[in-house]
Amino acid sequence: MKLPMGFVFDWTKGRQKGRKWQPHSPINNIFNGKFFWDKYRLDNIDIHRLSILPAEISTIANSFTVIATDTEWSKTEKPKLPFDFNWQQSLPGRFDFYFKLAEGQKCMGLGERYSGLNVRGEKHTIVTTDDPHHSESMQAMYKAIPFLLTGKDNQFTGIYIDTGAPTRFDLDSELTGQGRIEVLTRRGFHVYIIGSSSMPNIVKAFTHLVGRSKLPSLWSLGHQQSRWSYFNEESVIEVAGEIRRRKIPCDTIVFDLDFMDEYRVFTRSPERFPNFNKIVADLSSDNFRVVTSVDPGVKEDPEYGLYKEGKDKNMFCKTPDGELFVEKVWPGRSVFPDFLRDDVRKWWAEKQAFLSEAGVTGIWNDMNEPAFFDVSEVFPEKLEEMSPAKEQLCVHQAEDGTIPHLEARNVYGLLMSQAAYEGLLAKRPNERPFVLSRSGAAGIQRYAAVWLGDNKSWYEHLNKSIPMLLNMGLSGVPFAGVDIGGFWHDCLPELLVRWYEVGIFYPFFRNHTSLGSRAQEIFSYVPKIEEMGRKLIETRYSLLPYIRNLFWEHIRTGAPLMRPLSWHYPLDSIAADIDDQFMFGQDILVSPILSRGHDYRPVYLPEGNWYRFETGEKFAGNSTYTIRFPLGSVPAFVREGAILPIIEPMQHTNEYHSKSIIFKIFADEAACSYFEDDGISFDYEKGAYNEYLISYSKGKLNTTTVKKGYASEHKYSYQKMGESKVQPLEL
Ligand code: GLC
Repeated sequence: MKLPMGFVFDWTKGRQKGRKWQPHSPINNIFNGKFFWDKYRLDNIDIHRLSILPAEISTIANSFTVIATDTEWSKTEKPKLPFDFNWQQSLPGRFDFYFKLAEGQKCMGLGERYSGLNVRGEKHTIVTTDDPHHSESMQAMYKAIPFLLTGKDNQFTGIYIDTGAPTRFDLDSELTGQGRIEVLTRRGFHVYIIGSSSMPNIVKAFTHLVGRSKLPSLWSLGHQQSRWSYFNEESVIEVAGEIRRRKIPCDTIVFDLDFMDEYRVFTRSPERFPNFNKIVADLSSDNFRVVTSVDPGVKEDPEYGLYKEGKDKNMFCKTPDGELFVEKVWPGRSVFPDFLRDDVRKWWAEKQAFLSEAGVTGIWNDMNEPAFFDVSEVFPEKLEEMSPAKEQLCVHQAEDGTIPHLEARNVYGLLMSQAAYEGLLAKRPNERPFVLSRSGAAGIQRYAAVWLGDNKSWYEHLNKSIPMLLNMGLSGVPFAGVDIGGFWHDCLPELLVRWYEVGIFYPFFRNHTSLGSRAQEIFSYVPKIEEMGRKLIETRYSLLPYIRNLFWEHIRTGAPLMRPLSWHYPLDSIAADIDDQFMFGQDILVSPILSRGHDYRPVYLPEGNWYRFETGEKFAGNSTYTIRFPLGSVPAFVREGAILPIIEPMQHTNEYHSKSIIFKIFADEAACSYFEDDGISFDYEKGAYNEYLISYSKGKLNTTTVKKGYASEHKYSYQKMGESKVQPLEL
């Protein structure tokens, strides 16, 4: 047997480590600062804000997450809040919030959780952490979004704790109906209570506060091929060549760590990538974009320009004693830019020009929790309150003075991504930046897409990717995915195909694997597997017009792309418990196979009629069916009443605008709205886009132009499901 981590062999010491049963004893309220409530109404949704200023704190500093500027708050008495919401300061460095959770009330959101969709009945630690062992007993993960969405049916409430400090949520773990949130801070902060209202309304109001994604570049929605690492120029050329030769649609090749010179950020290896710029240019002529990893740790090396300059200009985090803070990450001993400062973000953005000028179009911010290899517990599990500044690893500088690291740790990755975003934008002002981030706080969607870190090539992790991504979406983050095929371990072919069957519906669509695992590109498997993968990836590309519609919806309403069934069917109590199926927008329901050796699974279809995606076979809703999905099939159903815009096959999105789009009509009465633009610039913000309402009724197609601001090159047609006739369409 392998002994658990931290196991002590000495009996006496071992016993000291043993944990006692400890009831949660009520602690007195020691608060003697100021607090007040105010209120704002957004489209009939109430948002209450509680401002808490502990004694001796006169202002609440910028939290970096809430950005809404149009909110006109008006003072109010303590509102009548749902479920007995109350709070107190229990310790100088800790606040506790209490509330009741009624029978059947669901809890969702909380950003990145290794959990089913309902996060109730568990404890959750929200602090950004690099823990590559994803399992049920893990607590903190890479992202920290203390936004809880709780309620049932059409009545939900959002609770957002606006702080960069750690929080712990106990959501009725003892089955007493009690919810509790610990906020470990000594600073002032806000709490937002949104609702009650429907689930989409709460997410709309929350994303109004913390911001939404912009439209992503079309290419970033395509297939991204990655691995740790394509070690040298030859391996990159080979992979790119195989992809094109075998006609596997793909837009992006990702360069992980090893393109760098001994992991020095903003360098390239002179031995392995001597012709870095040429390789990037060649890939670009072959219609690939290049995304490179960028970690925050700057190698401590007196000969290294970035280190020297950053040190001279005082850009790095310091210890509480004012020394340079040094910790180990991939490059060995490293120092960390203090991203809380505007001048540091600007400096970093300028340094990133090294990559943009080499032709790199996307930045992958990794390890930005930030990860420290030699610190076993950045946030000790037993910590009862925020430790005093002098006991912390390092400190940051912010507008209101020095902040101990843990008070702001949760926004570090967000602010690094802001720097990356602004760096890309500075170099290509009219191109939508693509940033991918591992860490993040509320509002990360303003700057970056995210993936959920180092999963494993396990069915368990394929399975969990669904509720995890659903909770990310409900927490405001639409552009998200997980490593397709799994990061750690060898991915066997059956799992890879099953993973692509789900992955084609992840908003962020990337195959990535770790050092030492078997090759995971779909063409590294036997021809029949490659063929299945190719067909699935082609399906993803065919859905790009629909995916763009969904992002258009997100920017206006905050709606995620992957949604729980209850988003659209709030009064359906069966749908409310389902988290191994999901809605991809309003019109597609995905119901994948998630276990090895299985071909059949139960599929619950909510009210209405449904058509199997690939065959058009019709099913009546409000029923559960046992349906067979042979390996390689698209496990999806289309809602009766939908019109899906489908584009012709392509190898990469540079071909997108020259391809034809066909509107597939599902049923006698159907409708959709359709959005299009150039897919790369910000001109849509100035009106350079088209939007149409398309409806089909009594055998006739009608179109209404909502906006015509863009000269599209597509040819359009339409076809009714089950009919062979394809009719041309003028838009
Ligand atoms: C981290 C990332 C992983 C990456 C690796 C090497 O583990 O999560 O995706 O491949 O670092 O950069």
